[in-house]
Amino acid sequence: MSRDTSRLKTDIAGMNLSTPLIAASGTFGYGDEHKGLCDLDCLGAIAAKGISLLPRIGNLPPRIHETPSGLLNAIGLENVGVEAFLEDKLPFLAKARPACIVNILGESFDEYAQLSSRLDGIPGIDMLEVNVSCPNVEEGGLSFGVDPDLVAKVTKTVKSATALPVMLKLTPMAGAKLAETALAAQEAGADAISLINTIGAMEIDIERKRPVLGNVSGGLSGPAIRPVALKMVFDVASMVDIPVVGIGGITSARDVIAFLLAGASAVQVGTGLLIDPDLPCTMLDGIEDYMDRHGIARLSDITGALELP
Ligand SMILES: Cc1cc2nc3c(=O)[nH]c(=O)nc-3n(C[C@H](O)[C@H](O)[C@H](O)COP(=O)(O)O)c2cc1C
Repeated sequence: MSRDTSRLKTDIAGMNLSTPLIAASGTFGYGDEHKGLCDLDCLGAIAAKGISLLPRIGNLPPRIHETPSGLLNAIGLENVGVEAFLEDKLPFLAKARPACIVNILGESFDEYAQLSSRLDGIPGIDMLEVNVSCPNVEEGGLSFGVDPDLVAKVTKTVKSATALPVMLKLTPMAGAKLAETALAAQEAGADAISLINTIGAMEIDIERKRPVLGNVSGGLSGPAIRPVALKMVFDVASMVDIPVVGIGGITSARDVIAFLLAGASAVQVGTGLLIDPDLPCTMLDGIEDYMDRHGIARLSDITGALELP
């Protein structure tokens, strides 16, 4: 790539990003699958597919279903497990120019602790992103992310097991407690926050009288959730002092700018990459055009620059 990205660079908790665009976990595999489909240099970082301690086979198919302006998925956190990740997947991510964010998931505090300490000190990993949308099997399957006390405990567990910067990925399923979960993560030592993960949703095939997903319900992503995500990012960024990474339905340069104005320091692009794997480069063109039109010297200057009536 011949593009000069110096005015696009940003920093999240000491992790340098050449552009503010991050491939969202679960929508970009482990990076190598997209070789040739996308200029990786347009990305500031890649958040790899969520990793658990042991491999997971995921949910019964069908696992994805298109909805108006959205995507319903119930992949079931299928992944290769941490050992195969380190052996087979990390070498590509570590060599690529974008920073490498490893997204981790656990079903118990012990699993989060073991994963974090296994990934600690491994060259090529720049940050851990902690997915707290998973069921806590020790507490009847309730998602960790809906309870501020559990979010604080997961954060402390991960922080005490690794020296890597830790970004807590919040779930919109926390509802009215979302801001509380953000504050709990910050107080427990999180270095950054990312939000949002998918929103619980379902669809029904009325002819077959069956849910369209093998798992009955799943998570909604894509443009359908963008205004919801934007408000959540705005609300959380207004309350916390640590960097916020915005996620949810971002598919254009306009969307990126809106999330930055709302207070995000960077954004993740997920479902948009499934529609167009080369979207990040198109987005950078639009972002630079916006900067030129508005006389913006450094993109980071517009984080939180929303003017309220
Ligand atoms: C097919 C698929 C798989 C996903 N897998 C993960 C995952 O493993 N870990 C995670 O934290 N989020 C996962 N997500 C959530 C995305 O990273 C992102 O938070 C969400 O899709 C909202 O962003 P978007 O509207 O840009 O897709 C997944 C999303 C999709 C669509």
